[in-house]
Amino acid sequence: MHKQHPNSEQQFGFFDDEQCEYVITSPHTPTPWINYLGNDGFYGLISNTGGGYCFYRDPKFRRLTRYRYNSVPVDNGGRYFYLKCDGQTWSATGRPVHTALDEYACHHGMGYSRFKVRKNAIASQVTSFIPLDTKAEVHQLELSNTSDSAKTVDLFSFIEWCLWNAEDDGANFQRNLSTGEVEVEDSTIYHKTEYRERRNHYAFYSVNQPIDGFETDRETFLGPYRGFENPIAVERGQTANSVARGWSPIASHHIKCELAPGETKTFVFVLGYCEVDPQDKWQAPNVINKTAAKTLQSQFDSSEKVAAELEKLRLYWQKLLGKFTVKSPDERFNRALNIWNQYQNMVTFNLSRSASFYESGIGRGMGFRDSNQDTIGFAHMVPEKVKERILDLSATQKSDGSAYHQYQPLTKKGNANIGGNFNDDPMWMVLSTANYIKETGDYSILDEMVIYDEQETATHNHFDHLERAFNHVVNNLGPHGLPLIGRADWNDCLNLNCFSEDPNESYQTTQRGASDVAESVMIAGQFVLYGQEFVEICQRTGKHELAAQCQKHVETMRQTVEQHGWDGEWYLRAYDARGLKIGSKDNDEGKIFIESQGFCAMAEIGKDKGLNLHAMNAVEKHLATDFGIMLNQPAFTRYSKYMGEISSYPPGYKENAGIFCHNNPWITIAEAMLGRGEKAFEYYSKITPAFLQDVQTLHKTEPYVYSQMIAGKDSANPGEAKNSWLTGTAAWNYYAATQYILGIRPDYDGLLIDPCILPSWKSVSITREFRGANYQIELRNPSGLSKGKVQLSIDGVKIAGNLIEAKHYAGKHHIVAEIIA
Ligand code: BGC
Ligand code: NOJ
Repeated sequence: MHKQHPNSEQQFGFFDDEQCEYVITSPHTPTPWINYLGNDGFYGLISNTGGGYCFYRDPKFRRLTRYRYNSVPVDNGGRYFYLKCDGQTWSATGRPVHTALDEYACHHGMGYSRFKVRKNAIASQVTSFIPLDTKAEVHQLELSNTSDSAKTVDLFSFIEWCLWNAEDDGANFQRNLSTGEVEVEDSTIYHKTEYRERRNHYAFYSVNQPIDGFETDRETFLGPYRGFENPIAVERGQTANSVARGWSPIASHHIKCELAPGETKTFVFVLGYCEVDPQDKWQAPNVINKTAAKTLQSQFDSSEKVAAELEKLRLYWQKLLGKFTVKSPDERFNRALNIWNQYQNMVTFNLSRSASFYESGIGRGMGFRDSNQDTIGFAHMVPEKVKERILDLSATQKSDGSAYHQYQPLTKKGNANIGGNFNDDPMWMVLSTANYIKETGDYSILDEMVIYDEQETATHNHFDHLERAFNHVVNNLGPHGLPLIGRADWNDCLNLNCFSEDPNESYQTTQRGASDVAESVMIAGQFVLYGQEFVEICQRTGKHELAAQCQKHVETMRQTVEQHGWDGEWYLRAYDARGLKIGSKDNDEGKIFIESQGFCAMAEIGKDKGLNLHAMNAVEKHLATDFGIMLNQPAFTRYSKYMGEISSYPPGYKENAGIFCHNNPWITIAEAMLGRGEKAFEYYSKITPAFLQDVQTLHKTEPYVYSQMIAGKDSANPGEAKNSWLTGTAAWNYYAATQYILGIRPDYDGLLIDPCILPSWKSVSITREFRGANYQIELRNPSGLSKGKVQLSIDGVKIAGNLIEAKHYAGKHHIVAEIIA
């Protein structure tokens, strides 16, 4: 089933499941393979050679360190440690110095990364992490002399400050080159650019030992026209103690480290962020108040304190990951679900699409549709945070039910420069809210008072927001009675009202004409699926009249899709602004699209006539490949202003017939609903990194997390992935695997057990924390089925049906679920 690709050869690393780590064994991975540090406001991105940057809450407005996207060589800027001994210089994280190392390994773990390097007789270990509830990166460097003679190692740290606003920092040089300011006191370098004016925050880089020198001016450290790989200060073995005035402020400490044979010395570097009371900014004229910084430094000034923080972090992750564990016969499936998929879900939850090595952190804030969808991968881990996130999103909704497409995490306000009118946006909030209620049983979220974007104070509750989301679809129907698409639906690149012929225009924000013709069958499917969910929420909260009205709209939409959204063998995709079909056998290109197949099949539209089954067969026939399911076929070979951005991509990439992983799980779910366990598993595993270890060179991106896109069959390099980490794929594939393959599915009254697994799996053990209970579930499949009836027994007592009713259980329970014909 999993085909060995002819290009496969080199491995760049391996999983260490025991430690929950991925161990990278070469600094020369095909792309930088990164990890995320931090989980509550302060974040760092760190590559397998120490590259990357950190920020507080908002990667655009509060960027601490400078990083160069699209730089040569790639991955330029980071937390560097230069080591110099016996006339040789190298880097403790493998870069930027080119010197070949005797040993190199980068262990990316849960919220930390560890770099183990040896050159000649000097071994080093850098452990990088952000302690829980802390606005600082900690980098602990251990240096050991493994020889039998004394050694002197010159150690130089290095980071470059970003002047806070990352966009301005990379563009506004007429100002930037004059604003930089620093202070140095003892072993701490303070960055205080713009502190004299409107900023009440500063950053610092410290080390818990006396230093032999420092540098804060970049050009003094590097020397004219030199790069990070051979700074002149390191070459000379000496710093000039420069104090930056404008230009590019940096922080570099120099320590001469004497090591006896066999001796190890440990240095703790702290890169921190402090906010100061505006009344209390200065401790003397022009001297910043350092109290907050000193408190922060004192928390991590010894290796014992660092060890204690690392242990807290380990327990934090152990607890989170322990809420749902699985032991199936396939260890790849287990490692994906038990470790990496949940970890990635956490990262996408925190950052949406804002900051990765592909998302620059200056463009998009938190996406409305993205963030709502992401919650389905995480509600079981931190439900309280999910509730808060949903209410934040709700507060960016407008009173007509539409939504700002994105919001800025710092202000929690919608981005006016992108605006709204992506007509799928509102209904995703029904998904996130329903999923939250099913996980927690907490209906009180519906009663929370939430502002509409135009308001100062809230006059309506969250339920009202959902009702307006529902009605936004009802109030915006097109000529066939299908939902109007607006600027785009889930597919940002299907821009049917844009008609752009000007390369300087944004597809995302340009909208011409009345927009009252182009319709989306994907939104229709989404409306049926989540509209039905809304009806259920109404019923369960006693709003029977409203439920009945809404049910009618849902039924009408079902019929409308059957009548105007079915193309004979699959669901149509859309009608364009001229009323012409998209995603039809009558088209030359783009005859079939994945999104409407996924959503209409998950909504089981036309199930009695077998439409969902036909659609799934068509997906298999036309869209499925060895590397995943393509978005559409045939690919668009010509640009069409009636399609927009989708036709701007070369065939096989991105939304134009790429394998856009996010939507693959919709098909997995639809297959599981049909009971086709082998198909469901095949689609699941094709895009899951744990299953792709023997195609690392081809795949290119991190082999432990999902990427947004894998090139499709029309591309020059099918199977090559791009844009790793921040993708809805993580949440959706997790949701598909746990709720539809394993079939452990939270529902309003309890936990449903409805598996659709590989027939060859005879048994699977699962642990699941759910509403205060801890269930040890044993799935048994003695007859080798995929799906069947489920015979449940709880603590040895058989019960009817396949629902574990939450109200009866607390504490630990043993469940046996046998799949029977
Ligand atoms: C990409 C989409 C993305 C959109 C918004 C497009 O160029 O292809 O995947 O969602 O930009 O940033
Ligand atoms: C990436 C965006 O983040 C997401 O919102 C969108 O649905 C997909 N691209 C597809 O265009």
